[in-house]
Parts: sequence; structure tokens; C-alpha cells
Amino acid sequence: MVRILFVCLGNICRSPTAEGVFARRAEAAGLDFEADSAGTGDWHIGKAPDPRAASAAKARGYEIAHLRARQVSRDDFSAFDYVLAMDRMNLAELQRLAPTRFKGTLRLFLDFAPDAPLREVPDPYYGGDDGFAEVLDLIEAASDGLIAHAQTHTRKNPRPSPLPLRRTRS
Ligand code: 4NP
Repeated sequence: MVRILFVCLGNICRSPTAEGVFARRAEAAGLDFEADSAGTGDWHIGKAPDPRAASAAKARGYEIAHLRARQVSRDDFSAFDYVLAMDRMNLAELQRLAPTRFKGTLRLFLDFAPDAPLREVPDPYYGGDDGFAEVLDLIEAASDGLIAHAQTHTRKNPRPSPLPLRRTRS
């Protein structure tokens, strides 16, 4: 099981998009994972994603409207193996917050998309709809890179169960 936290500033545009996109693609890839998102800021705690982010995501088949914003906390560094920042400003804030004992991975999300044209996911909040499509392009590429990375770097169950597990009827 790999546990991943996506972090931006408000947790209403980029990181909930990353959570929704990554979750759907990771499920399709059969990855054993847990994904969540949070913001370094506190302005939007409890809010739903920005409607522009939700509709841009929905246009590509990702449902994120049910997510609610929360602020990142020091406890997140115990709960997650990967803490991935959308930009350098949020990465710096996370580096300041991280306990020295954190042994997980704290990096820019786009490090997992080495061929992408940018190193940071641009903040789309004050821009137009094009910004949200660009955010999705970058996040889809980095999600696939992260899934491939997780599949090679997480230890597989050495003795998989010989039979597929079935859900018991109730
Ligand atoms: P996010 O976008 O960090 O991608 O969620 C933003 C949302 C809100 C604000 C800034 C960025 N804001 O300043 O309120």
C-alpha cells in the first residue's frame, strides 16, 4: 500500500484535481494506494473544489465535486509516504513543516512527469478556463509517471493469494 498526499495552496483547484485524477488512473492500473489532498493555506477549509476545476475534471471523466478542502498538518507526515507539492512555494512551506524524522518522499509532483514542459503546476485560480485544461494535462502526465514509479518501488506481496477474493453476498 502506497499512501500519497497532494498539496497546493487552497486545496480547491490543483490538489483535489490531482487526487481525483491519480485515484482513477491508479485504480485502473491496479495499484494498492490511498490518496488524499490538502492545502498549505487555511482560507478554503471545508469548501468544495472550485466549480471551474470540477467541471474541467468532469469533462475528462473525473469526479471531484464531493471532495472538501482541508489544511495540511504535521500529522500528515506520519500518515503518508509521498507528500507531493504542486509548486515550489508550497514545497518550501512543506519542508518547513516536515518533522526531521519524516522518511518519506517530499517533492514536486511534476518530478514524476520529466517530459512535461513545466516543473510546477501553475495556479489556475486567477486565470481563464485554459488554465484548468493545462492543469489537467500536467496532472495526467505526472499521475501516470507516479503510478509507474510506485509499481516498481513498492514491494509486491511475495505470496499472492492463489484465488481471487470474492465479495460475500449479503
Ligand atoms: P489551488 O488554487 O492552490 O490550486 O487550490 C488556489 C485557490 C485559492 C487561492 C489560491 C490558489 N486563493 O488565493 O484563495
